[in-house]
Amino acid sequence: MSEIKTIHLKEYKKPAFSIESVNLTFELFEEYALVSNIMSIKKIDETQSILSLDSIDLELKELWINDLQLSDSRYTIEDEKLNVLNVPSAFTLKIINKIYPQNNTELEGLYKSGTIFCTQNEPEGFRCITPYLDRPDVMSVFTTTVIADKELYPVLLSNGNKTQCHDSFDSRHGVTWEDPHPKPSYLFALVAGDLGSISDEYTTASGEYVELNIYCDKGNESKCHHAMKSLKEAMLWDEEKYGREYDLEIYNIVAVDSFNMGAMENKGLNIFNSAYVLADTDTASDANYMGIQSVIAHEYFHNWTGNRITCRDWFQLTLKEGLTVFRDQCFSSDLNSSEVQRIEDVKALRERQFVEDASPTAHPIQPKSYISMNNFYTSTVYEKGAEVIRMIHTLLGEENYRKATDLYFETFDGQAVTTEDFLWAMSEASGVDLSAFKLWYHQSGTPKLEVKESYNNGVFTLSLKQIIPDTVSGKTQQVYFYPLKMALLDENGIELLEKTLLISKELEEFSFEGLSTKPTLSINRDFCAPIIIEEEHSNFSFLMKHDTNSFVKYEAAQSFAIETIEALMRNEGLNEEYIEAYGHLLDLDIDLSYKALLLELPSVSTLMQRMSIVDFEPIYKAKEELSLRLATVFKEKLLNIYTQNHFAKSVELDALSMSQRAIKNRVLRALSSLESQDITLLAKTQYEESLTMTDRVVALDILENTHPTFAQVALRDFYAKYKNETLVMNKYFSILAASDREGTLQRVVALQNDEVYDEKVPNLVRSLVGVFARNYKHFHSKDGAGYSFVANKIIEIDKINPQMASGLCGAFKIYNKMNDISQTLMKVELERIISTQELSKNSFEIISKILKINKK
Ligand code: PHE
Ligand code: ZN
Repeated sequence: MSEIKTIHLKEYKKPAFSIESVNLTFELFEEYALVSNIMSIKKIDETQSILSLDSIDLELKELWINDLQLSDSRYTIEDEKLNVLNVPSAFTLKIINKIYPQNNTELEGLYKSGTIFCTQNEPEGFRCITPYLDRPDVMSVFTTTVIADKELYPVLLSNGNKTQCHDSFDSRHGVTWEDPHPKPSYLFALVAGDLGSISDEYTTASGEYVELNIYCDKGNESKCHHAMKSLKEAMLWDEEKYGREYDLEIYNIVAVDSFNMGAMENKGLNIFNSAYVLADTDTASDANYMGIQSVIAHEYFHNWTGNRITCRDWFQLTLKEGLTVFRDQCFSSDLNSSEVQRIEDVKALRERQFVEDASPTAHPIQPKSYISMNNFYTSTVYEKGAEVIRMIHTLLGEENYRKATDLYFETFDGQAVTTEDFLWAMSEASGVDLSAFKLWYHQSGTPKLEVKESYNNGVFTLSLKQIIPDTVSGKTQQVYFYPLKMALLDENGIELLEKTLLISKELEEFSFEGLSTKPTLSINRDFCAPIIIEEEHSNFSFLMKHDTNSFVKYEAAQSFAIETIEALMRNEGLNEEYIEAYGHLLDLDIDLSYKALLLELPSVSTLMQRMSIVDFEPIYKAKEELSLRLATVFKEKLLNIYTQNHFAKSVELDALSMSQRAIKNRVLRALSSLESQDITLLAKTQYEESLTMTDRVVALDILENTHPTFAQVALRDFYAKYKNETLVMNKYFSILAASDREGTLQRVVALQNDEVYDEKVPNLVRSLVGVFARNYKHFHSKDGAGYSFVANKIIEIDKINPQMASGLCGAFKIYNKMNDISQTLMKVELERIISTQELSKNSFEIISKILKINKK
C-alpha cells in the first residue's frame, strides 16, 4: 500500500494541462492486455514543465512525445504517478503499457467477470488502465479500438457510436468506437465477451432513432425484457419531465455478475450488476422488479445529470448522485404508487442514512476530505443528497424548478461543475434566495425539531426549536433553513388548513387564529424535510385514523407502535389503545401495498436508533410480545385478508397483483409470530404451491425462523432447483444469514464451503457475510464470536477487494453506542483489523474513524 494521504476539498487546483483527444487501442489476450494511449495534450499553465499522470501498477512499455521515443531520463515513476519531464506547450503523447485484467480482483479498472472483459472506472479506476489525468474536470473526446479473439470475444463494445470493424487479422478481430461527447475518464468503458443480447429501438421526441441493446450471459436473454421496458420508460420520462433527450445513435447495457456496486452510467455503455438487469417471475421478487426499474432509470438519467454535466472534483459527488436519485425517485413515484414510493424512500433513508449520520463516519453530503473516495458512495451523499434536492424542489415549486433545471442544463452543458453552480441556477431562475440553504451541503448529522403546541382563545400556537447535533469531532453546527409542510385538522379529521412553513431560526413560533376548537397537528407532511420531529404528546391514534396525508398517517402508525413497544421495554404493560388502532388499520379499504406498509411494525434498527446505549434483547422481546398479541387478537381478520389476496398460481406483475402479494405476505408474517401449526402449514403450502419468487422467499424465511424441520425440506428443495442461478442463491444465503435460529453463525461459516459460494463475487459476499453482519442477534452475540468472524472476513477480503472489505467494516459503526462489554469485544477486533499488515486505505479510513470516536 502506498502511504495514507488525506485529500482535502480546500486544496483543489485547476488542471495544468488539457487533453484535447484520446485514442485508445486495447489488445486483449488471455494472460494480459496491451494498451496504447495516444493523447493530444495542451498546456493551460505555461509555467508547468512536468506532466504528472496518474498511474497505478502499470507496466510501461513505450513512451513517445510526437515522433520521439523518450529515454529513462525524460520521465520518472513514483508514488502512483508517471511524471513526464520537460514537456512542450502542445504535443502528442503516446504511451504503451501492459496490464493484467485476469488477476484484477479489486474489480476496478479493466477486469474479468467470469469470461467477460469489463471496466469500472469511477471514481479512480482509469489510472489502473493507462496513465492519465484521472480527474473528472479533465474532459476529452475518446476513440477506442478493441481487438480480441474472434471466437471467445465476438462482442466488442466501448462508448459512443460504432464506426469501424476490422476483420483482417486471422483469428482476431477489432471494433472502433467514437464518442463525440467530451467526457472524464471515469465514464470510459470497454466490454468484450461472448454475450447474448436483446435489442429494441427508441425514437426521441425530435425524431432521432436510437438502437437499444442489453447484453448478458448467453441463456439469460429472456430475463432482460423488464430492463428494456424500464429503459424506454425512463427515456420518455426524461423527455416529458425535464425536456432531456438521448444524444447518441446507440445505448448499450451489459449485465455482469462480478460488480462492486449496483450499476455504472458510462457514456452510451452502462455496465450493470446482473442483479439489476435480470428478472423473470420464477427467479426474481417484486422488489427485484422495482429495483431494476429504478436503477435502469437512475443510470439513464445520469446521461444528463452526471455525464453531459459532470463533477468538478469528487467532493461534488452529490451534484450528480443526489440529483439523479431524486430524479429516479420521482420517476418511480410517477410510474407506480406515489404514496408507497415516498414511504419506502423515507424508510431506506432512516434505516441507512440516519444511522450513518449518527455514527463516527458521519459526513456532509459534500464531504470536506477523504482518504479513499470509494468510501464516499454513501447513503448520505446519495439519499440525503436527494432529500436536499427535494427540499429545493419544494421551495421553488414545480414550475420554477423546471425553469431552474433548464437553466442549469443550458449554462453548464459540457462542463465539470460544483454544487455552488447548481445552486446558482436554482436561485437565478426562480428568484428564491438559497444562501441560507447552503448549509445542508456542509454540515453533518440529522437535525431535530422539538415541537410544542398550545391552544388559547381560538389561537393555536406552534413553538419550534431546532436542535442541531455536533460534528463527529465535537464542533457545534448552525441551525438550518428548510420548508416544513403542516396541516391542522378538526375533530372530524377535516383539513382546516395546509401550509408550508419556512423554518430558519433556532426558536420560532407560528400562530393560527380563528379556530373554534383545539385542532390536531399534522406535521412534516410528505416528510418534506429530512429531520427528526420530537414531540411530547401527539394524538397518534387520531392521525392514524384521520390524517389525509398518506405519509403522516403512516408516520402516526409507526410512532404509536414505537411508543407502545418502548413502554413494553420499560415493563409498563401493553397499551390497549394501540391494539384498537391497529384493528382499525386492518379494516381500511385502501391501496393494498400502502396498507401493507401501515401494518408493518417499526424495525429493530428504528428502535435501536432511539437508545443511547444499545441493547438488542429488550427490543426483540418487546417486539415479539406485541406481534404475538396482535396476531392473537386479530387472527381471524388477518387470515381473511390472507385468503382474499392469496392466488398461488398468479404470476402477474400489474400493480394490483403486486399489492395483493404485498398485503398477503405482510399478514402471513404477522400471523407467523403465533408459531402455530396451522400458520406454519400455510407458509409451507405457500412455498410449495406459489409460482412467484416473492411468495416463495417469504414462505421460506418464515419457515426458517419458526419451523426448522419444514425449513430443512424447503431449503433443500430450493437449493436443488436454483443452485445454478447465482442471483437466486443470493436469496438463499441471505435467508440463512439473517436467521434468528440458534446456530446461525455455524451455518454461515459452513456455507462458505458451498460450491456455489465465491468470495470473489461481491453479491455473494454481501448476501452471506454482509447480511450476517446486520443480523443484530447473532452478530452481537455475547461471546463475541460474531464480531470475530466478521473481522476475520474483513481481513481476508481486504486482500482481494478493498472496496468490499470496507463495506463490511460498516457493521462496526455502531461501536460507540454499544454497552461496555460489547465495546470491549469489538475493540479487540477493530484493533486486530487496523494492525493488519498492508491493510487497504479503504478499510483503514473506516476503522480509524470508528476507533477515534471513543478511545476507552
Ligand atoms: N455512479 C454509480 C451510480 O450511482 C455508482 C458507482 C460508483 C458504481 C462507483 C461503481 C463504482 O449510478
Ligand atoms: Zn448514480
